[in-house]
Amino acid sequence: MSTPAALLPAFAPIDIGPLRLRNRFIKSATNEGMAKGGVPSKMLVEHHRRMAAGGAAMTTVAYCAISADGRTFEDQVTLDAPSLPHLRVLTDAVHREGAAACAQITHGGAFTFLPKLSTRYPLSASGGLNPPGVISGRLFKTAMTAADLERVADEFVAGARRARDAGFDAVEIHMGHGYLLSQFISPKYNKRRDGYGGAAAQRARYPAEVLSRVLDAVGSELAVTCKICVTEGFKGGATADDAIEVAKVLEQAGAHLLVLSGGMNVESPWAIFGSNMPAAAVETVQNPVVKLATRMMRLWEPKIPFHEMYFLEHSRRIRAAVRMPLAYLGGAKSVAGVGQAMDDGFDCVVMGRALIHDPELVNKFRDGRADVSGCTACNECVVMMYTPGGTRCVLNPPDDVELNRMPAAG
Ligand SMILES: Cc1cc2nc3c(=O)[nH]c(=O)nc-3n(C[C@H](O)[C@H](O)[C@H](O)COP(=O)(O)O)c2cc1C
Ligand code: SF4
Repeated sequence: MSTPAALLPAFAPIDIGPLRLRNRFIKSATNEGMAKGGVPSKMLVEHHRRMAAGGAAMTTVAYCAISADGRTFEDQVTLDAPSLPHLRVLTDAVHREGAAACAQITHGGAFTFLPKLSTRYPLSASGGLNPPGVISGRLFKTAMTAADLERVADEFVAGARRARDAGFDAVEIHMGHGYLLSQFISPKYNKRRDGYGGAAAQRARYPAEVLSRVLDAVGSELAVTCKICVTEGFKGGATADDAIEVAKVLEQAGAHLLVLSGGMNVESPWAIFGSNMPAAAVETVQNPVVKLATRMMRLWEPKIPFHEMYFLEHSRRIRAAVRMPLAYLGGAKSVAGVGQAMDDGFDCVVMGRALIHDPELVNKFRDGRADVSGCTACNECVVMMYTPGGTRCVLNPPDDVELNRMPAAG
C-alpha cells in the first residue's frame, strides 16, 4: 500500500535550525519513568530506539534536569557528567535507526517533590504561597534574585552543552506545563515588578534570555526548540492572547521551532491531555495528606470529553501571528489529523500517546497500514510512569521490568 496523498507533505524532510529531519513526525517528551535514582536505564534506550525504528524523525527524551535542584523527582535524568555515557548509548541507538534525538531540558522551579534542596524554599518567578505545594508539601517558594537568574541561565547552557556532548541533535527548552520558565510566563506565578514581570511579553523575557544564551552556546550545532502553552487552561492563567505575545518574543529571540502545547500540571492537567486522569492516578500517591489533596482536586476537575487535535483552534492563532517553524501538538492520532495540521501550515506534528501506544504508527501511516491510532486517551500510561517498568500503554503487553533496573551503559 502507498502513502495517503494527505500525508505526503508530512513525509518531506525539513530543516530545523542546523538539523535536517527525515520527516515531520516528532515523538513528544513523555516522562518515561526509566531513570530510577536518576540513572538512564536500558529500557529508556529501548523505548527511544523503538520510536526511531517506528518512523518518527526525532524522539524527545523527557524531562532532563539541568541541575540537581532543577529536578522535580529523584527518578529523573539529570544532565550531569555521570549521565553522559548512558545517554550516549541512547543517542547512538536512535541514530542507528536513522532518527534524531532531542533532550527536553528543564528546571522544575517550584514544581518539585525533592526531599532536599540547596535553598530553603524552591525558586520561582515570585515568592509566597506555592500552588504546587498542595501536592508536593512545599507550601512556600522564593523569588529568584538577579544572581539566581544568571546562575540558572548558565545551568541551562551547561545542560544544553552536555546534551550535545551526549550526542543529542536538539534540545527542547521546557517553557510550559508549570515548570520554572513557565512560572515566569504564567501571570498566576509571576507577580514581579521588575523588567521580568507585567504584560505577557515581559513575562516571556527571562525564558527568551535563556533561549538566547542556549542558542549562542549550541545553536549552530543543535536545533533549539521551545515547548510553550497555547493556553494554560484555567482562570487566571496565561491565555491564548498571551501565548501569541510569548511566541512573538521567542521568534524574535531566534528559536528554531516552537512546540505548541497547553495546560498546567497542577491547575489544569486535563488541559494538557484533552481528557481526564484515571481515578487510579490518585492511588499512586504515597503521602496520605497529598493523596487527600489530590482526591479533593478531582472534585473540581471539569469533565473533558477527548477529541482529536484539541489545541487546533488556539494553535492556528499562533500560526497566523508568527512566520517561524511551528509544531502542532495535542491529540494528533490519525492521518486526517496530521493532514489537517499540514494543511494549516504547521511544519511538524508532535505525538505523545499515539506513539506510546504504537511506536510503529508513523511507518504504518506511511505505508497505508493504519489511518488512526488505537490509543483511547485513557491516560493510564501517565500512572504507569511511577511503576517499576515505567511508562507504557496499558493496552499492550508489559515490558521486561528488569531492563528498567539496568543502567543503559554497561
Ligand atoms: C505518560 C506521559 C508523560 C508525560 N510527560 C511529559 C514530560 O515529561 N514533559 C512534557 O513536556 N510533557 C509530558 N507529557 C505531555 C506530552 O508531551 C503531550 O504534551 C501530551 O501527552 C499531549 O500530546 P498527545 O495528545 O500527543 O499525547 C506527558 C504525557 C504522557 C502521556
Ligand atoms: S494507556 Fe495507552 S490507550 Fe491509554 S492513553 Fe496511554 S497510550 Fe493511550
